[in-house]
Amino acid sequence: MAYNLLKGKRGIITGALDSNSIAWKVAEKAHEEGATFVLTNAPIAMRMGEINGLAEKTNSKIVPADATSVEELTNLFTQSQEILGGKIDFVLHSIGMSVNIRKKIAYPELNYDYYAKGVDVSAMSLHKMLSVAYKMDALNDHASVVALTYAAAQRTFPFYTDMADIKALLESIARSFGYHYGLRNKVRVNTVSQSPTKTTAGTGIKGFGDFFDYADAIAPLGNATAEDCANYCVTLFSDLTKMVTMQNLFHDGGYSTTGVSDLIMQKAGITEGE
Ligand SMILES: NC(=O)c1ccc[n+]([C@@H]2O[C@H](COP(=O)([O-])OP(=O)(O)OC[C@H]3O[C@@H](n4cnc5c(N)ncnc54)[C@H](O)[C@@H]3O)[C@@H](O)[C@H]2O)c1
Repeated sequence: MAYNLLKGKRGIITGALDSNSIAWKVAEKAHEEGATFVLTNAPIAMRMGEINGLAEKTNSKIVPADATSVEELTNLFTQSQEILGGKIDFVLHSIGMSVNIRKKIAYPELNYDYYAKGVDVSAMSLHKMLSVAYKMDALNDHASVVALTYAAAQRTFPFYTDMADIKALLESIARSFGYHYGLRNKVRVNTVSQSPTKTTAGTGIKGFGDFFDYADAIAPLGNATAEDCANYCVTLFSDLTKMVTMQNLFHDGGYSTTGVSDLIMQKAGITEGE
């Protein structure tokens, strides 16, 4: 059911790679809720052309941009304002990539070139996007910026290797920029800490399938899906949450605050089922 929560709002949505991507679902929901937006991704990620189908379905234009390039991000914000006819009301940062994870390199042996690349793509890119928008004055007052993160920023998940550190930086950038942009334009910046989700980035992590089931058995509500995440992002883009900023918001069915669940104890053979 749609509520017209984003009627008249203009946005930029990064990171829709295929129909499993969280950003893909956000685009579908934002469209249902009345928003108009530009889709963007790294030029290399568009080779498959899947994003064209999403653009058609949501009546949007695509502006390619590598999120590590200030020049390409400047072009993205310039073109988006031209295409959409004004300043931007919401931005989704849904970008994550670690070569160390891809190559299954364990945390104590991280390759530093890959580490630096991961920082640039997955965290510094949020600073670059916000800085470009800030200098261009490209966001409307009360605009909302959401970046997706993971609970490994607070607690150790060994398989998440350098992305744990990178997500901690991402969350810190959201707080720090949220302060400055909030003061100047009442722009809010938040991170959403999402459950494990079966996407290209998610399933690239060693042991993801087992961990997905583990998290599902811990969280009283179970894992939140990409579609659930999209619904939550839409509320954060809407005016209903206009005083929420500089927060890391857990969207994980209760996983992050559950110490242990009966189901996990049973599965581990520590207690018997009832
Ligand atoms: N899948 C999960 O389990 C999970 C859980 C919590 C948070 N997240 C976060 O959600 C976000 C979206 O990931 P997803 O799970 O939808 O996977 P995904 O693989 O569908 O999306 C990642 C996107 O990042 C884009 N990207 C990579 N390098 C880029 C660059 N240089 N410039 C621009 N875009 C670039 C990719 O093309 C892709 O579209 C990421 O930040 C991820 O860390 C995912």
